[in-house]
Amino acid sequence: MPGLKLQGKNVWLTGASSGIGEALAYELARRGARVAITARRAEVLEKIVSEIRAQGGQAWSFRGDVTNLEEMKRVVADIEQTVGPIDLAIPNAGTHLFTVPEQFNSAEYLSIMQLNFGGILFCIEAVLPRMLERGKGYLAPVASLAGYRGLPRAAAYGASKSAAIHFLESIRFHLVRRNITVSIVNPGFVKTPLTDKNDFQMPFLVDADRAAKIICRGIERGKREIAFPWPFTWVLKIARILPDRIYEVLVNRCW
Ligand SMILES: NC(=O)c1ccc[n+]([C@@H]2O[C@H](COP(=O)([O-])OP(=O)(O)OC[C@H]3O[C@@H](n4cnc5c(N)ncnc54)[C@H](OP(=O)(O)O)[C@@H]3O)[C@@H](O)[C@H]2O)c1
Repeated sequence: MPGLKLQGKNVWLTGASSGIGEALAYELARRGARVAITARRAEVLEKIVSEIRAQGGQAWSFRGDVTNLEEMKRVVADIEQTVGPIDLAIPNAGTHLFTVPEQFNSAEYLSIMQLNFGGILFCIEAVLPRMLERGKGYLAPVASLAGYRGLPRAAAYGASKSAAIHFLESIRFHLVRRNITVSIVNPGFVKTPLTDKNDFQMPFLVDADRAAKIICRGIERGKREIAFPWPFTWVLKIARILPDRIYEVLVNRCW
């Protein structure tokens, strides 16, 4: 797939007020992109914009909630008016929630689905018609390696990320014919305020700045999947093809 040189490109990034998104905002700007950042906390976004500008980069903030389709459409319209046509959209906003079936509450699952999967859908619905009209564009939504296979306590999160991966792989068949590239970003564990809450040892943990560099490099190279870190990715890729019984024995040993 064709890569995208980030220098001078207009990029829309959601979930930019913290963690991977915040690090990505800085890295994109460092690479010369014009960065439009979205999240719900406007004051945090404003600080990041000031910092990026102080470092000589170009950034703008557009507050919005990714679970609100009308807000996403308004944000995209505002960005295109202020910054210019969006070349690259990175729907990254999302969260994690541990769930156990012993205290089953479908509302929890649906709310994670609404944010992690629905948020990607709403961002794409807001930006894709414009990309199709222009006959070019690049989408790089953030899913997760946790979307590969079922894991304990991860039924809600994993399902939302699995849905995102399946959806993106499917639409890519169509969009590639319309000159729109789709890279699926599948991080392993990244040190962010989200994972700081985890109560277990996270294998192959990487910091957010490193994650941001890997994601930008993957987009510049037009990679179908930007999965990292590679040792953990390969462990999970192999786990994906293991017979269910063996997979369960191995996961039960670590859990
Ligand atoms: N960290 C990891 O190990 C890891 C691994 C794989 C995948 N991921 C994925 O990477 C993405 C970022 O995760 P992170 O670790 O950087 O988490 P984080 O530090 O908690 O950041 C989450 C971001 O999403 C924004 N957000 C949350 N709900 C939103 C909403 N309704 N509308 C708009 N923005 C919203 C938050 O900003 P506001 O609160 O200001 O809205 C924040 O900027 C998520 O999709 C996550 O699932 C993370």
